[in-house]
Order: sequence, then structure tokens, then C-alpha cells
Amino acid sequence: MADVVVVGSANVDLVLPVQRIPRPGETVLAGGLTRGPGGKGANQAVAAARSGASTAFVAALGADDGGTLLRDALGEAGVDLSLVSTSDQPTGTAIITVAEDGENSIVVAPSANATLELSEQALRAVREAKIVLAQLEIPFGTVQAAAAASSYFVLNAAPAAELSDELLAHVDLLVVNETEAEAVGGPKLSALLERVPAAVVTLGAEGAVILTRDAAEIRVPGVPVEVVDTTAAGDTFCGVLAATLAAASTTVSTTAPTTGRDLTNAVRRANVAASLSVQTGGAIPSVPHGEVIDARYAEVYL
Ligand code: RIB
Repeated sequence: MADVVVVGSANVDLVLPVQRIPRPGETVLAGGLTRGPGGKGANQAVAAARSGASTAFVAALGADDGGTLLRDALGEAGVDLSLVSTSDQPTGTAIITVAEDGENSIVVAPSANATLELSEQALRAVREAKIVLAQLEIPFGTVQAAAAASSYFVLNAAPAAELSDELLAHVDLLVVNETEAEAVGGPKLSALLERVPAAVVTLGAEGAVILTRDAAEIRVPGVPVEVVDTTAAGDTFCGVLAATLAAASTTVSTTAPTTGRDLTNAVRRANVAASLSVQTGGAIPSVPHGEVIDARYAEVYL
């Protein structure tokens, strides 16, 4: 089966370019409307596959145009779709405004994503994967079941939510931005380590920080670029991180590195990939391929 199994959401993204994101109660006019494949889970599965890992995706899609759009995009990226189920609900939808400075705001209608459960076959794939990666746009019970069955579980706790000790007990590596970090551990980043053994906090243009219980904090600086659209930058980071960690662990029983050089290198590669993704618009269309990531990695770090 696949080295990386992503359990998560898939959405049709309706993207509205605006001068700036509207304030509460305000109406603004968009410069157009585009429709494309996205969803945190789908973006992360594509990022893992494009960066070189054998990747399977566990998700629920509707029997509609949106489902076809997503199947085509995921299939083209080389993601194994045998664990994608068809729901009686429509495919999830996200309304995304992207401002001129590249920042965005996103509202998601989960629809089919809210019906996702783990089938026997999906559970088997989760047990056999080197790395299982999930986010929080699907039911908590499904995330919990995947976490409990995984040998190495990476949770991207997005969108921000308060999380139970029961779930966090199964998390090997937490990936969060600063807002999500605060929802899990409070204002002090180091407090995350009271709840999980290792965490990576992404800091946007500033890069990322690695926190582990048995080593000092490591800062990985951002890679300066011209920002067009930050949508899916965090997803690109998570997918590439999981793929790179999977490549560093030889078997399922050799758990992936949560400390040391391998984790730092994986965060650097993920960071480079995220910096490439923000230079292109859209979610899945912005996710870079492994050769491009590695060429840029060599320029930045070697
Ligand atoms: O992280 C970006 C993603 O969030 C978008 O593709 C959108 O679908 C939402 O899930």
C-alpha cells in the first residue's frame, strides 16, 4: 500500500480576487470568479504525491461535477483514489477571497466531507502506511480513528480547534500555524510540548519553528519570494513534510524521525515547497513538483 495516507477533505474552491478582504458588514466587488480543485486534504495528498511519495487519499466526494473535478486533479497528480468514497451529499465547497497582497479568507461548506468514515479497507491502509496525515475539515471521530490506527500520525490541526487529550495522545507530530497553535496550547508555543511530543509551527513568510521534547527549538527561516496567493501554502508544507519524512523512514516499524537532522531537512524542504506555492494562484494548481522543489532546495541550502 501507500507510504503516505492522507485522511481529509476535498472541496471545489470558488475563488474571488478582491482588492482587500471585506470587513464584517462590508460588501466588496471581486475581479472575477474561478473554480478549481482544493480542500486541505486533497491539497496535501497532491503535495505528497507530487513531491515523490506513494500516496493514497481517504475522502468522500459527491456524485457531481465537483467530484469529477477533484478525481481528475488528484488522479493526474498520481494519488491513489481507491479509498475515495462517493457520498449522497454534494462535494464540499470553499468560498475563498484572495486579496492583492496574497492573503486570503476561506469559508467551507463541508457537505460530503462531513460524511467521511473509515472503511475496513481504509483502516488497513492507515495501519500499513509509514505516515498518516489528517486535518480537521472532516468529522473528529474519523480523525480519532485514523490517529489510533496509525504507526506515525501527523495532525495538521487546521482549521483551528480545541483538541481533546484523547486525540492528542496519538499525535506524533503536530503541524500548526500560530493561530492554530494558540487554540491547542495557549499563547506560549512551548506549551504545545505538554500535549504532543513534537510540533512544527509555521510562521508564514518567517518560515517555521521545530519544537521537540528532547532538543532545543530550531528556527527554519522563510525563503523570500513575491507572493501572489497564499492559498494551500500550509497544505503544500504538510504534504511535502509527510512525503519527506516517509522517505527518511525505511519501514513502517522504523518510525519517522521526530527529532534531529531528518526532521530539520524535511521542514526545510517543506518550507521551500510552500514558498514556491505562494507564487502561483489557486490551491492544487499551485502545488509544486518534486524536481522543482529539489532544484530550489539546492539553491537555498546547498
Ligand atoms: O488550505 C486551503 C484550503 O482550505 C482550500 O483549498 C479550501 O478548500 C479549504 O479547505
